[in-house]
Amino acid sequence: MIKKGMIATLVSILMFALVGCGGSTEKTATTEKKITVVTDAAFAPFEYMDKGEIVGFDVDLLKAVMEEAGLEYELKNIGWDPLFAAIQGKTADMAVSGITINDDRKKTYDFSIPYFESTHMILVKEGSSIKSAKDLQGKVVGVQNGTTGQTAVEKILGKENPNIKKFENTVVAIMDLLNGGVEAVVTDNAVANEYVKNNPDAKIVAFEDPEHFESEFYGFMFPKGSELKQKVDEALKKVIENGTYTEIYKKWFGTEPNIESLQQ
Ligand code: ARG
Repeated sequence: MIKKGMIATLVSILMFALVGCGGSTEKTATTEKKITVVTDAAFAPFEYMDKGEIVGFDVDLLKAVMEEAGLEYELKNIGWDPLFAAIQGKTADMAVSGITINDDRKKTYDFSIPYFESTHMILVKEGSSIKSAKDLQGKVVGVQNGTTGQTAVEKILGKENPNIKKFENTVVAIMDLLNGGVEAVVTDNAVANEYVKNNPDAKIVAFEDPEHFESEFYGFMFPKGSELKQKVDEALKKVIENGTYTEIYKKWFGTEPNIESLQQ
């Protein structure tokens, strides 16, 4: 005779066989959605195209941070103005593009902790009469549209000044300087220095003006309220503390980073 207890045992053995061997119900789904990261890859040494690939300091740092955070991502080169639209419209999850953290942008976007200190530089042709930011007055000055370089020049020349020529990216602004379309270009110091270093025959010089150009900091940018920010901040902190940041910095700039300036 089959007893109730035996049936219960049989049932539980059967259940074990079904569930235990099938295996799938025990595992939690690990397939998180790939994160879309957007950039404007015309800003060497931070992000630029090399043999069809996006490379640069930002690209290496992004890789290290996402690895540390255990996040899968895809980096897309969509351009500067579209990048802001994509983050605001949430068609992208994150942007890395030498983006300066400032109060104006913080109204619309969230930022990571700072990862790079920058200031502006003026690029001119050798022998130019422009020797300081003040000398930009009355001159045609090129900037990348919608950058802090534009804001810095507007402070000197006035906001609606038609002498401020706005370009879609920094590369075309510098090309216009070479062609004589503008007399100066104002852009981020590391980018200005990189251009001069890589183009010794272009006869372009770069100089700073600490009286007129303040220091600013780059951060990764997210849609407002993004949950990614915290994960990225934690990973970025680790990457800075464990020496990976220093390695990447040395690879691209050949010098030691000033980590303390980032942590203020
Ligand atoms: N740091 C400046 C800004 O945030 C310029 C950044 C431009 N970056 C680029 N990939 N084009 O406005």
